[in-house]
Amino acid sequence: MRLLVTGGAGFIGSAFVRLALNGRWASRLTNLDKLTYAGNLENLAEVERDPAYRFVHGDINDAQLVVRLIEEERPDAIVHFAAESHVDRSILGPGAFFETNLRGTFTLLEAARAVGVERFLHVSTDEVYGSIDEPHDADEGYPLKPSSPYSASKAGSDLLALSYWTTYKMPVTVTRASNNYGPYQFPEKLIPLMITNAMEDKALPIYGDGMQVRDWLYVDDHCRAIRAALRKGAPGEIYNVGGSRALPNRDVVEMILDAMGKPHSLMQTVKDRPGHDRRYAITTEKLERATGWRAEVDFETGLKETIEWYRANGEWAGRVKSGAYQEYYERNYAGR
Ligand code: NAD
Ligand code: DAU
Repeated sequence: MRLLVTGGAGFIGSAFVRLALNGRWASRLTNLDKLTYAGNLENLAEVERDPAYRFVHGDINDAQLVVRLIEEERPDAIVHFAAESHVDRSILGPGAFFETNLRGTFTLLEAARAVGVERFLHVSTDEVYGSIDEPHDADEGYPLKPSSPYSASKAGSDLLALSYWTTYKMPVTVTRASNNYGPYQFPEKLIPLMITNAMEDKALPIYGDGMQVRDWLYVDDHCRAIRAALRKGAPGEIYNVGGSRALPNRDVVEMILDAMGKPHSLMQTVKDRPGHDRRYAITTEKLERATGWRAEVDFETGLKETIEWYRANGEWAGRVKSGAYQEYYERNYAGR
């Protein structure tokens, strides 16, 4: 397949680009990325010389650029990862979430409609369902009730993307994944923040009572699900992607500390996130039935590998956590 990937320098996008090129899922792969604070070309060092790979530094809101790329590359599919992805940042400043997640997705859809594309895969999130009370698990028909500007922007872009199938018969497929973890994740998200803080014996901030539940999915399993949805998923359909491993945050952090031989006393309760969703839980039978996909990496194994990766790549994390991120963190989180 010839692929045009957006946001391929971020955490999940870069995992997808590495797997797609190394595993020959793609005969040609063009990566359009704005290189925001979350985009990092170091994540792609192992594929940057692959002749099948092309990196383009640009914004999905640049309509002319996007049209030109689709015309030049004639991709079989667009895989749309690019987004502002962090809930806390969306609470602090929602503007960029509107610009990229909503307006950017619109720009991309319009460009794809103008030139024509065989498949548009819109990468979304289980957060669009909002907090889900036990004992329910959300299937793809579950009502949308996003809580944060981030999840609302993703829910809006999901609906917009799906409307291009209903209205224009543009072959759009949407995937909604649960919390990803793995190597190269920006250390503002729970698991990499806790690992890298523990590496430095720094406090580990637990929001509220720490009993919020998230379903953890290893990033490569997510990428394999996207590939499966591209190959065997149907246009106009939504597929949940989960790791079937729901855990309270506190348990996850204790597992990290135990695996790293660090004391639980490093955990420090801090002020809760406003509008914090209590529980995410989804079913993944639809994707499994349609494509045969199954999550392959169990949480214990994935977490161990992730901890090992951060330990072996302390310089990567050090570079990412210094400078602008350090200032952002101190400005917004000091004094909680
Ligand atoms: P990330 O923040 O690590 O990376 C986002 C990438 O998009 C970066 O490389 C950034 O430079 C790029 N980008 C941002 N704005 C852009 C723009 N206007 N034009 C071009 N590129 C732009 O994000 P991630 O965690 O890898 O998430 C990727 C996608 O998966 C997002 O759509 C997110 O909503 C979705 N998702 C994430 C998770 C998760 O747990 N991280 C779970 C489910 C779904
Ligand atoms: O469910 C999928 C979503 O998962 C994706 O769509 C988002 O892009 C991704 O960021 C993630 O959202 P969360 O808000 O669930 O992830 P985060 O890592 O920010 O937080 C996970 C849980 O841990 C959440 O309950 C808040 C809590 N938390 C987080 C941080 C960063 C803490 O207790 N302390 C922290 O310092």
